[in-house]
Amino acid sequence: MSATELTLTRPDDWHLHVRDGALLAAVLPDTARRFARAIIMPNLKPPVATVAQARAYRERILAALPEGADFQPLMTLYLTEATTPDDIAEARESGFVHAVKYYPAGATTNAASGVTDLSRVYPVLEAMQRHGLPLLMHGEVTDSAVDMFDREPVFVERHLTPLRNDFPDLRMVLEHITTREAAQFVQDAPAHVGATMTPQHLLMNRNAIFVGGLRPHHYCLPVLKRETHRQALMAAATSGDPSFFLGTDSAPHPRHAKESACGCAGIYSAHAGIEFYAEAFEAADALDRLEGFASFHGADFYGLPRNTDTITLKRESWTVPEEVDFGGVPGVPLRAGDTVAWRLTD
Ligand code: DOR
Ligand code: ZN
Repeated sequence: MSATELTLTRPDDWHLHVRDGALLAAVLPDTARRFARAIIMPNLKPPVATVAQARAYRERILAALPEGADFQPLMTLYLTEATTPDDIAEARESGFVHAVKYYPAGATTNAASGVTDLSRVYPVLEAMQRHGLPLLMHGEVTDSAVDMFDREPVFVERHLTPLRNDFPDLRMVLEHITTREAAQFVQDAPAHVGATMTPQHLLMNRNAIFVGGLRPHHYCLPVLKRETHRQALMAAATSGDPSFFLGTDSAPHPRHAKESACGCAGIYSAHAGIEFYAEAFEAADALDRLEGFASFHGADFYGLPRNTDTITLKRESWTVPEEVDFGGVPGVPLRAGDTVAWRLTD
């Protein structure tokens, strides 16, 4: 299918980092222009671990929205070993907390307060299963003996399979999946187990970290994988299976924090958050499957109404700036200085 214009039900972003303060105000307009809602990641410092913290963070996000923007932040709690079943009941009651995020302790940016051993949070998972609150998983083991590129499949085998047996009705999202094994796990699981996919994992393989020199702006976690995995993800994303949905994992870090002897993990993609997916789906000749993936599957999974307005993309290339403002410091967006094939019309 080849198209020059594409009108879609307005999409949602089911996995997003917007940070706080000046950086929040700088990045939020990119998301609010494209998406109606986004699941907001709670890995601030300190983490958003209580309903009171999520309420305050939500207010700060709403206050940072540009005039006239119609955008809803969907809040999450950061699962720690101090989270209680009462916190879960309170989250469910709140109406604005939509999920709980699991980070294995130390797995990624601001994951120090994460969980060292899933068995320590079993009473909380039991409460989540009972209240129907989804568990969003950063699915990587942190075991130093496990190769960086294998951390997701090993997580699936070591932790996810037992977890599914122990909590068969727990709603789960395996976030930002990167491997054939993760896609297969989700395909084989019942409808209350889903997965998000990022633009970078659909568009790039791990060569992108190394072409012509070390590319810190292509470093994220889970790290990009080999081409066969990218192809498996593309097949899943374009299959029409409602278990797979859009989650950009757009994760802004200032340029200096990425271009460093110990560069941070995270790729900023919100400036073309739907356009990148249009490129990926077009390359697979599957533009007709984009609306399900971007606008329907996630809303259905979360039990929220589908959006009713639309956005329009034109097949017209534009050049991404070399640098964008991250609230007084420069940041480098995905595809900086290079072109994107689809443009969002106003
Ligand atoms: O690359 C990543 N960046 N992966 C994560 O899991 C966290 C995120 C961030 O917060 O920067
Ligand atoms: Zn993330």
